[in-house]
Amino acid sequence: MFPVKKQTVKVASTLLFAMLLMPFYALKAQSGRTTINFDKGWRFHLGDDKNVESTSFNDKSWRMLDLPHDWSIEGTFSKDNKATPEGGALPGGLGWYRKTFTIPATDKNKIIYIDFDGVYQKSDVWINGHHLGFRPNGYISFRYELTPYLHFGSSNTVVVKVDNSVQPNSRWYSGSGIYRNVWLVKTNKIAVNNWGTFVTTPRVSSQSADLLVSTKVRLKMPTSSVNVNTTIYNAQGKAVASNTKNDLNLSDSISTVNQTLLVKTPSLWSVDEPYLYKAVTKITQGKTVLDTYTTPIGIRSFVFDTDKGFILNGKPVKILGVCDHHDLGSLGSAVNTRALERQLQILKEMGCNGIRTSHNPPAPELLDLCDKMGFIVMDEAFDCWEKGKVDYDYHLYFKQWHKRDLEDQLLRDRNHPSIFIWSIGNEIPQQADTAALRIAPELARIVHSLDVSRPITTANDRPNKNNQIIKSGAIDLVGYNYHHQIYEKFHDDFPGMKFIGTETTSALETRGYYEMPSDSIRRWPSADNFKHPGGLGNVVSAYDNVSAPWGSLHEETWKLIKKDDYLSGMYIWTGFDYLGEPTPYSWPSRSSYFGIIDLAGFPKDVYYMYQSEWTDKTVLHIFPHWNWQPGKVVDIWAYYNHADEVELFLNGKSLGVKKKQGEDLHVIWRVPFEAGTLKAVSRLNGKVVLTRTINTAGKPAKIELTADRSNIKADGKDLSFITVKILDKDGNIVPDAENRLNFKVNGQGFIASVDNGDPVSHDPFKANYRNAFHGLALAIIQAKEKAGVVNLTAESDGLQSASMVIKVK
Ligand code: GAL
Repeated sequence: MFPVKKQTVKVASTLLFAMLLMPFYALKAQSGRTTINFDKGWRFHLGDDKNVESTSFNDKSWRMLDLPHDWSIEGTFSKDNKATPEGGALPGGLGWYRKTFTIPATDKNKIIYIDFDGVYQKSDVWINGHHLGFRPNGYISFRYELTPYLHFGSSNTVVVKVDNSVQPNSRWYSGSGIYRNVWLVKTNKIAVNNWGTFVTTPRVSSQSADLLVSTKVRLKMPTSSVNVNTTIYNAQGKAVASNTKNDLNLSDSISTVNQTLLVKTPSLWSVDEPYLYKAVTKITQGKTVLDTYTTPIGIRSFVFDTDKGFILNGKPVKILGVCDHHDLGSLGSAVNTRALERQLQILKEMGCNGIRTSHNPPAPELLDLCDKMGFIVMDEAFDCWEKGKVDYDYHLYFKQWHKRDLEDQLLRDRNHPSIFIWSIGNEIPQQADTAALRIAPELARIVHSLDVSRPITTANDRPNKNNQIIKSGAIDLVGYNYHHQIYEKFHDDFPGMKFIGTETTSALETRGYYEMPSDSIRRWPSADNFKHPGGLGNVVSAYDNVSAPWGSLHEETWKLIKKDDYLSGMYIWTGFDYLGEPTPYSWPSRSSYFGIIDLAGFPKDVYYMYQSEWTDKTVLHIFPHWNWQPGKVVDIWAYYNHADEVELFLNGKSLGVKKKQGEDLHVIWRVPFEAGTLKAVSRLNGKVVLTRTINTAGKPAKIELTADRSNIKADGKDLSFITVKILDKDGNIVPDAENRLNFKVNGQGFIASVDNGDPVSHDPFKANYRNAFHGLALAIIQAKEKAGVVNLTAESDGLQSASMVIKVK
């Protein structure tokens, strides 16, 4: 994961010692600087106590755990939890973390920091009894310097208090705890400052690109003369440009060094080929390397055009994005790089090329992955400003903290080539207030003080002429949340301005559940009546025919976006189902129905509509299943591409040929059910392109296990996602199977969590059992730190069990 990088310059003996003691992923060493993963071996207590911050506090009875950690996801669903079903119906509370560690005496000349990527929320941190600070924002990354309070050569205690007890403070599931990574960073007294580089590419062509590298060097000692070299390496590790400033006399505590480099015939970063360079900045004094600091770079040019939409490297690219919250389904909000990567892989397979980090700064690992995998990111700051949406959300802290938080977000994130848009707010309640005329420009000034290379937007649920944010002139892109009906008036309403679909759609589906007729459209619940419709078991038909009243069906908005160039793109609400916000229901539902993909990561049918439209893959997807009461009239849909017709057969008899007409995105047959085999054949010019069959399934008979990866790393973090299917004796998936599955695991892995995508289940995620939901379940296996194998067995009463082996290396 984070291999130790061998450097030519002498590595201190303490560092070598530390490296021997640590798992290989845990340490990044570069000359002059070490970054140690600080996730292991914390003590945790849920609840309050006295004197916990003091070094003498006895935490021996506390639970030992490794970060990232989300205690809410370990809790029990209840409608009485203060988060409410909107927040995921899991418990919050107040928790304490403590960690004791040794700093070698040889580090005496070092400057030592602790970096938190994110703590939800209201964290207080102490080192050896000294209070380092308070951060209310649960999504922001922050650093404290430890040096003055450390005991070198002996033991130190860091204590973190996390207060998520005052709720509701979120409109979605937040999770609770130190849910992102923690790092210990050691530098010399002269070093690159935290988030201290900024690389921009003001001029890019296929012949060459100018790179401006601005480096903040921090001095913790009197005036010094140093050399600063920045070298650009290509993806193969070859140096392609270099610049050195020698004998710089730095006198301020923070000095800025600007360098200009030229890269010839650059490989450009794009969504299809996300080519990455890196800038390695070295500060030296004589032969000694004081610091080495790496910044990933993507060279690309882009512009949002009033008429032509989004242009990347000179070519129009439609932004085909999704909004997602930060939770990772059954893993909760505890960040895991592989879980993030899997989500992005599933989205890429669908043709998605954009992510909106709704409605907060994401984990840094998400942005690294988006850089590598080619996503167009809208990095969002806030869900509210001075007026809140729920009683205890960020509006309580906005006045005091927005500047610091927004600056820190920009400083941390502005080098990511995947970021193209800064969003300074989602559906800000003050859109209609004149207060927006004051706040929006102020936020824009903060953004511009740190980055002028990207446009600013806000996601507006009132994209009209009276919108005070738009009126203020602070934003570059007019963000539309919903309101697809008035897209066509855009140029009349906002002459000369640029469009982005910041949030679209909000269609609703339960994976695997179908109601007839499929073509009666439902806006549900109606805007003025949020009552539980009742009686249906809190399910929503998975034909794309239900949406929230403020939203649209998937097809409705996509048909518009695809038509006009000035509509630069869309971010669909949402890619994945998430915990909380169970519209159109409330309790007993506890997670959303908005996803194109369910909470467990299983695609709903509409996934294949997008795949047929957004990718070059050849698609033929027919649904629903073929298990109904005899005579029941069933609507059969097909999404397809690369073909001009589809013929459907039932038990060998043709049910007719269908062709998409005009703007159609699917075809449909209405068929009285008769058990047997449905077969669809897509053809182009009379030649068969693809064939798909669905058989009427018999009774559940056996279990099938499939791993997304059967070789995982022995790093304590890597995951294998196991899809569990309930099959009949002939191997057909049983579409209504809800059998209880019991898992047994032994060897070098354990069950991180289980799920099935059912928004109504109250079974725990941290368990070794799960019912199937519409024939499917998921078990997530996490590697331990030793190489070997994991043996997984799934059993269920009356079914043939299944086993599999996962290698851990
Ligand atoms: C939007 C909001 C999202 C989510 C969505 C559900 O108005 O920005 O956070 O609540 O509605 O449709």
